[in-house]
Amino acid sequence: MPRLENSLQLFAKGYGWLPDKRRALGRRTVPTRLGGLPAYGIEGPEAARFLYDEDHVVRSHAIPEPVRGTLFGKGAVHTLDGEKHRVRKAMFVALLMREDGIASLVQRMTAAWDDAVEEWARRPQIVLFEESANVIAGAVARWAGVPVTDGEVPALARDLQAMVDGFATGGPRHVRARRARGRREAWLGRLVRDVRSGTISVEPGSAVEVVAQHREVDGEQLDSHVAAVELLNIIRPTTAISWFVAFSAHALIRWPENRKRLADGDAAFAEAFAHEVRRFYPFAPFIGGRAPRAVEWDGERIPENAMVLLDLYGQNHDADLWGDPYAFRPERFLGREIGAFELVPQGAGDPRADHRCPGEQITVAVLSALAVRLACLQVDVPEQDLSISLRRIPARPRSGVVLQVRGSAA
Ligand code: HEM
Repeated sequence: MPRLENSLQLFAKGYGWLPDKRRALGRRTVPTRLGGLPAYGIEGPEAARFLYDEDHVVRSHAIPEPVRGTLFGKGAVHTLDGEKHRVRKAMFVALLMREDGIASLVQRMTAAWDDAVEEWARRPQIVLFEESANVIAGAVARWAGVPVTDGEVPALARDLQAMVDGFATGGPRHVRARRARGRREAWLGRLVRDVRSGTISVEPGSAVEVVAQHREVDGEQLDSHVAAVELLNIIRPTTAISWFVAFSAHALIRWPENRKRLADGDAAFAEAFAHEVRRFYPFAPFIGGRAPRAVEWDGERIPENAMVLLDLYGQNHDADLWGDPYAFRPERFLGREIGAFELVPQGAGDPRADHRCPGEQITVAVLSALAVRLACLQVDVPEQDLSISLRRIPARPRSGVVLQVRGSAA
């Protein structure tokens, strides 16, 4: 039976698109169409295992241009397979998954946050979504070896947020995202060329130095444009943690009973809170690739080149996995091992080998530390629209979370 093009439905329904289809069909696997191609929405740990096997799903030529032109960048690690992916991924793993590196990034973030709080307290009110992005963007850029002055940080933060905000829409947000990407790729491409020519020296071992000197499978350096794309693939998603900071504030306003335990410095609870924020709130809707040949999943024959989409939002709200999935309960993560294919806000599988996000430990560490600081803030919350539309991808509290900061109890 011919299936109608569903891109419009995706834009209209947002995060509910695949879950609604599953409910309507009474099946875990739903055939649909996306971007002119047949597509299969899949969900659950076994489905995730299926998708992360390169025999079933590959990434090259699978990610639509509007997503590459805004969110990931062209030539990014997200779009590679096999040996090319393995070699490029090793660069990210070496840069992002070292304990001492993560600790020094968290230290920079919390110091920048503490400085910012003093300034926030002098203003009538702040928009947390924007201010937390300023804190994070400045800290991660410097940690990565990208030279920025304090005065340049807010514009950088706005550009990095714009790239994330505009990937799933055709309107003005999309135009802003493309312009922001163009500007920042040109800027970082120049930096990479200056580092290579010795005009600028950066800290040895910093992301800028490692990416500038990285060699691909064929022994060649990255094209300076692709090097800029990959540097952005470190500082952009880190700045996207500002979405989770805004969601954390939303959670603390709606369920204030979590505040004391966080503020008291219960580290295990802070980590559980970070996991629950990443599970509960909508961010990346799904990930996808294409079938390199005809494959079978859940009784469906998936033709060669069809898209396969793992419904991340749906899986994070699957009642079989989480029980009561629409209750915000950080305790569910206390004393619980998380399987590699269960909690999927940042993908599934092995982050060192598969496409799973190599920045997940950074995200959890930064978010836990900032959630504790957020819980310590002495604030008034003025009347505002804190609603989160599931039709908007990426979702966010509508007001950006306006706070009147009086100080911090930290
Ligand atoms: C990949 C989400 C933070 C760097 C991914 C993927 C998702 C994701 C869904 C795709 C996984 C897949 O295709 O299988 C997020 C979210 C974040 C976040 C929601 C928090 C806001 C970070 C951070 C970094 C980072 C902090 C770097 C410091 C990357 C890179 C990839 C990736 C380089 C591509 C990996 C590959 O293709 O092998 N992320 N991420 N992300 N993420 Fe993140």
